[in-house]
Amino acid sequence: MRSENYLVLGIETSCDETAASVVSIHKKTGQTKILSNIVYSQIEEHKPYGGVIPEFAARAHLDILPKVVEQALVVDKSELDAVCATTGPGLIGGLHVGVCFGKSFAKALNIPFIPVNHLEGHALTACLTNDVQFPFLLLLISGGHTQIINVKNFKDYEVLGSSKDDSCGEMFDKTAKLMGLPYPGGPEIEKLARQGNENAFDFPKPFYKKPHCDFSFSGLKTAVKLAYKKTQHPHDIAASLQKTILDVLVDRLTQALKFAPHKTLVVAGGVASNQYIREGLQKFCDNLNMAFEAPPSKLCTDNAAMIAYVGGMTLYHQTEIQEMKTMPRISLGVSS
Ligand code: KG4
Ligand code: ZN
Repeated sequence: MRSENYLVLGIETSCDETAASVVSIHKKTGQTKILSNIVYSQIEEHKPYGGVIPEFAARAHLDILPKVVEQALVVDKSELDAVCATTGPGLIGGLHVGVCFGKSFAKALNIPFIPVNHLEGHALTACLTNDVQFPFLLLLISGGHTQIINVKNFKDYEVLGSSKDDSCGEMFDKTAKLMGLPYPGGPEIEKLARQGNENAFDFPKPFYKKPHCDFSFSGLKTAVKLAYKKTQHPHDIAASLQKTILDVLVDRLTQALKFAPHKTLVVAGGVASNQYIREGLQKFCDNLNMAFEAPPSKLCTDNAAMIAYVGGMTLYHQTEIQEMKTMPRISLGVSS
């Protein structure tokens, strides 16, 4: 196995999932296989507070990570070619736990440690799961980020637009919190929306038809708050919010295609597990004769397979392993 494939251990601890995974990548063909993918969700620990408490998250990672790695190690550790961990963006305490563990593990085995950008993990998940080829347009919609990225090649990314304020995932989380629903809000709002009228509220669509690819959700957040105070109609608000978010995403993608007219759209990040949004994006692509690719829902949310994959691809492409400087706070780098 070792001679033909790179075997890489990935570690993900940037938010409230403690995850580890082993991925194998064929040294010649690049064919990839997820050998294990263990995700421990800390949701129950954070639920009483309506959001992630960074200090609790870091302590939970410290507690759980060794067990999660042990479960993920379905191959003998001596067979590993590299260890990678998310180095950012994310909550600093959790990142430190994952990076210290990963670096020590790699050192003990005398193999390289590969630092991985969390967003690059999300960005390339569809290449791992759906065999997507470069180049493609990427819509990254997670709890921390909302971006449209021109993915030209491995390590060649151009951010076309980002949210200027709240992320797409925060719209779901904050609306759920307003309605007294548990964290994370995405699945709760999606459930509520199924029984609501999506045309009940005419919410604002920030930057609509503006000739750039940025997002802004804070005005929408305020409109949702006011509507809920006035009407207390959670189902209709959830459905109208979801429709507004989809309209905004489609509008921004329409602009992005003018800058990067690709034939494939890929969606990634936790919000990409929303069925209504997936179906809406599929229709958008069908109308434009574009291919639409979305990773399986369980790999849209945070996991370590996507981190191991980026590390494995770094070996496969023989890309120079970047020395870790400080924990990056910025989003995915711009290529030019
Ligand atoms: O990618 P992710 O797991 O973590 C970050 O990197 O941020 O994304 C988490 C976000 C949360 O805001 C969560 O509410 C949202 O993804 N999410 C959803 C759904 N499932 C998770 N949003 C809408 N609909 C869903 N079904
Ligand atoms: Zn994420």
